[in-house]
Amino acid sequence: MSRRNIVWQHGEVSREQRPSRGGTVWFTGLSGSGKSTIAAAVEQALVTAGQPAYLLDGDNVRHGLNTDLGFSSEDRTENVRRLAHVAQLLADAGVVALVPAISPYRAGRQWARDIHAAADLPFIEVFVDAALETCMDRDVKGLYAKALAGEIPQFTGVSDPYEPPENPELHIRTDSETPEASVEKVISFLISSLRLKTPLP
Ligand code: ADX
Repeated sequence: MSRRNIVWQHGEVSREQRPSRGGTVWFTGLSGSGKSTIAAAVEQALVTAGQPAYLLDGDNVRHGLNTDLGFSSEDRTENVRRLAHVAQLLADAGVVALVPAISPYRAGRQWARDIHAAADLPFIEVFVDAALETCMDRDVKGLYAKALAGEIPQFTGVSDPYEPPENPELHIRTDSETPEASVEKVISFLISSLRLKTPLP
């Protein structure tokens, strides 16, 4: 019996029985570093190869499940906690969950890693690294300009911290390589580290 009198109900389908294997690929980095672009291209490549994959974008999940959350440290922690749980469920179902989210705190990302380890599911942390100046220059969404003008409080990299990963499985530098090269690196890494049932190109 667990706490709060809730008992885990076991299903009847084993992981081996599922048609595909899953895992979580967690993309962390500053806003504008290229996380979403790379994750979306990886999703496209996996699905095209027949491997179920799903893009769980921090921005998009904030439109629904996480619509009640803002950008205080508590809310970011809760955002990451929910993303991690949804990713873990998808991974358990045999889907490769691709999670681009700033996820600025090491502790939150470690927590996401830990719940996957506890469930014996792969967790791959990809540090999508670009210098803050590069992200500011790109300013795809125009948010850095607003943040610098003081219109967005607690903006990551400007007025809120970003803690870079110390030991990510993969470190890609989007300010010195093309998006295609970054995508290629992620896919090669997945081929060697996720024991997928689907042969990837
Ligand atoms: S996280 O910090 O909680 O992981 P998440 O990845 O879900 O963030 O959302 C980040 C996106 O929200 C950014 O890409 C940007 O479009 C938007 N955003 C709005 N306000 C902020 C802010 N204060 N800091 C960072 N991103 C923000």
